[in-house]
Amino acid sequence: MRVVAVMNYKGGVGKTTLTANLGAVAASRGLRVLLIDLDPQTNLTFSFFTVEDWHHQLKDTRRTIKQWYEDEVPGRETELAGLVVTPERVNKVLDGTGGCVDLVSSHLGLIDIDLELAARLGGATTLETSKRKFLDLHDCLRRALQDDFFTGYDLVLIDCAPNFGIVTKTAIVASERILVPAKADYLSTLGLEYLVGNCRELVRQFNDFVNHGDGTPGHRPIGPDFLGVVFTMVQIYSQQVTMAQHTYIEEVRLNSQVPVLESKIRNSPRHFGDAGESGVPAMLRAGGRDDVVREFDQLADEILGALSLPDGRR
Ligand SMILES: Nc1ncnc2c1ncn2[C@@H]1O[C@H](COP(=O)(O)OP(=O)(O)OP(=O)(O)O)[C@@H](O)[C@H]1O
Ligand SMILES: [Mg+2]
Repeated sequence: MRVVAVMNYKGGVGKTTLTANLGAVAASRGLRVLLIDLDPQTNLTFSFFTVEDWHHQLKDTRRTIKQWYEDEVPGRETELAGLVVTPERVNKVLDGTGGCVDLVSSHLGLIDIDLELAARLGGATTLETSKRKFLDLHDCLRRALQDDFFTGYDLVLIDCAPNFGIVTKTAIVASERILVPAKADYLSTLGLEYLVGNCRELVRQFNDFVNHGDGTPGHRPIGPDFLGVVFTMVQIYSQQVTMAQHTYIEEVRLNSQVPVLESKIRNSPRHFGDAGESGVPAMLRAGGRDDVVREFDQLADEILGALSLPDGRR
């Protein structure tokens, strides 16, 4: 099982669209995929469930990740495996491929959880207690995913909220690799180094506490690494990336500490304009092999290859 966090604290850069469609393409190649929605906006959840489905199955917070983070130590009383749901419509389309997409859904109420979790980190009377609290909390999702239940999945994709709160940090700690969707513009590329610095600082602090803390049983050092930046909503004219965007992409390629993936996803309101409404990601609905389908295929090749997962190509 490979765990990848899809994150960027810049909003609206295509994280959720990428998570849903990459997950769907990987599943169509026979992989068993679990998607985890860690964003209180719940866009990933609503990409697979209609509002009506949601009212029937997921409105009750006890069916969502909110409940799980609410435990005194997340996951102590609520089993993550018990929150996994199988969206029907997408899996109907995947019938016969051998692959599947399951989901752990989010809840609008998750928005309050970050503050609650931050409050729980305070109040420790000794340095050792404070380190243990830090580790117990930040390590919660990683520990939960070690449950035997999850070995049934080839790929776990975690869709993060556009922030660097504690919930997002638990996703970083739980992941082997971090995928950063970005738009090729000034403001989107500006924050990338800051994001890399913050992720590395989190890993350094976590490992420092593991290596120099007493009474931290069960915690192991972590080493998530960047899979890379993938440029989304790229403007293409006459089969070429526009000059302005090409300049931003090359600047990141030359100067960033994070690799830039070869694959790019073009801006295509035709494919992604009605995100979510049908419950089946656009890449499984697109008829034939148009340019965007080809780009997602290439992205899947690149990412599954980097993760040493079978790419399912015949
Ligand atoms: N390649 C694309 N072409 C056209 N529109 C796109 C593309 N990718 C995403 N979009 C649209 O852009 C908007 C933002 O995308 P998305 O929700 O995936 O971003 P996000 O990074 O998850 O946002 P947030 O930070 O709010 O979670 C959505 O309306 C989506 O349908
Ligand atoms: Mg999103």
